[in-house]
Amino acid sequence: MPAHLAAIHGAELYAQRRTRLAALLGPGGVAIVPTAPERPRNRDSDFLYRHDSYFYYLSGFAEPKAWLVITAEGRTTLFCQPKDLEREIWDGNRLGPDAAPAALGVDAALPVTELDAQLPKLLENRRTVWYPFATHAGLESRVDGWLQHVRARVRQGAVCPDTLQDLCGPLDEMRLVKDAHELGVMRRAAQISAQAHIRAMQTSARLLRAGQDVREYHLDAELLHEFRRHGSQCPAYGSIVAAGANACVLHYRADAAPIRSGELVLIDAGCELDGYASDITRTFPANGKFSGPQRTLYELVLASQEAAVAATKAGARFNDPHDATVKVLAQGLLDVGLLDRNQVGTVDDVIASRAYFAYYMHRTGHWLGMDVHDCGNYVEPTEAEQTTERQDPLTGQTVVTRPSRILQPGMVLTIEPGLYVRPGEGVPEHFWNTGIRIEDDAIVTASGCELISRDVPVKPDEIEALMRG
Ligand code: GLY
Ligand code: MN
Ligand code: MN
Repeated sequence: MPAHLAAIHGAELYAQRRTRLAALLGPGGVAIVPTAPERPRNRDSDFLYRHDSYFYYLSGFAEPKAWLVITAEGRTTLFCQPKDLEREIWDGNRLGPDAAPAALGVDAALPVTELDAQLPKLLENRRTVWYPFATHAGLESRVDGWLQHVRARVRQGAVCPDTLQDLCGPLDEMRLVKDAHELGVMRRAAQISAQAHIRAMQTSARLLRAGQDVREYHLDAELLHEFRRHGSQCPAYGSIVAAGANACVLHYRADAAPIRSGELVLIDAGCELDGYASDITRTFPANGKFSGPQRTLYELVLASQEAAVAATKAGARFNDPHDATVKVLAQGLLDVGLLDRNQVGTVDDVIASRAYFAYYMHRTGHWLGMDVHDCGNYVEPTEAEQTTERQDPLTGQTVVTRPSRILQPGMVLTIEPGLYVRPGEGVPEHFWNTGIRIEDDAIVTASGCELISRDVPVKPDEIEALMRG
């Protein structure tokens, strides 16, 4: 079945989410949720179609050119592509408005060609219009146009909505805590991605043992093969396969560089499965055997990840795993000689001055869900007024911070510390051009977290054993 066709998983699940959202819209509220547009790639070819995450969360419907209108009373109208035999011969089957109510559990469905005619009627006599702000180019002016039609009827007694609200707020809060269905899909996505990493590691060692020319794209091909053969629709983001020094480029992509015996390979890749992302990074020796300096830095990153995992539990703050990581890395950087005590002082000084930033310049995680960098407030909403000002030691700028989010069971985040060592004055040469990141996906539980991506090992001995096989 082509990817752009309806993917329907239990209409009841999506109906329940719409009911929960409706209850948040307030009296007289109405929400408008478009799916994503098709995007041209070049000439008359489009990029692989990907639905809008908010729209899919509320519908389970993956066709393009579709809209939801949901009232505070819980009535949903879907606009979707009309049946059209000629277009369906070229582009694939369409669900169509007649079949949609039974298939998707919506109250009414109309052809999308009716959207401009029907929206003023659906907005008339409502008080507040909710739509996702700053996510769909041109949506604001379309809403304006529909409201102009409503206003033209006020002399006949129609009431025009007078409040616009950002639908991302309530939807982001809903999406931040995953339900059982979402957690099930995410576990499966992470399992598939873990198998793909294993396959890439083993391929690297096997091809090098056979004396073959191994390129980054060879390992990328193994990842894709494993994703697709287990039913993943696509990678959740552009896969990084970085050989040697390329691992120090944070947003490197799988390219054509040779993978050489003695180098490390960093792979950051995860599949998307039924609308949900996974996001795994492993760093391994191309030939299956860590060198001494590689193992030293690898074990430091792993220890920092273990500290972050231990800090991830319900009731802790989103920033706690990052702070735990930084503490271990800062001490380790002093211990291995990447930072000079005589220049940067104690571990507390390294943390306060952010001297570690020379080697660790990203944060330790992000929310994970339908989007790889998923929606959700990183500030604790109940404490958003508690601002603190501080001077950033590196930029000198004043930074306003707020208490970070308190973790709850069902939130999903990545835990991904790393170290990136470029050549430089005073940098021990045996560490040059070494980039290491270890990234796992964690479901927050009451007592800790469930690492759903650990089917691929992280311990250096286990990686070496896997690559001997
Ligand atoms: N792969 C994207 C990230 O790790 O954030
Ligand atoms: Mn990540
Ligand atoms: Mn990643």
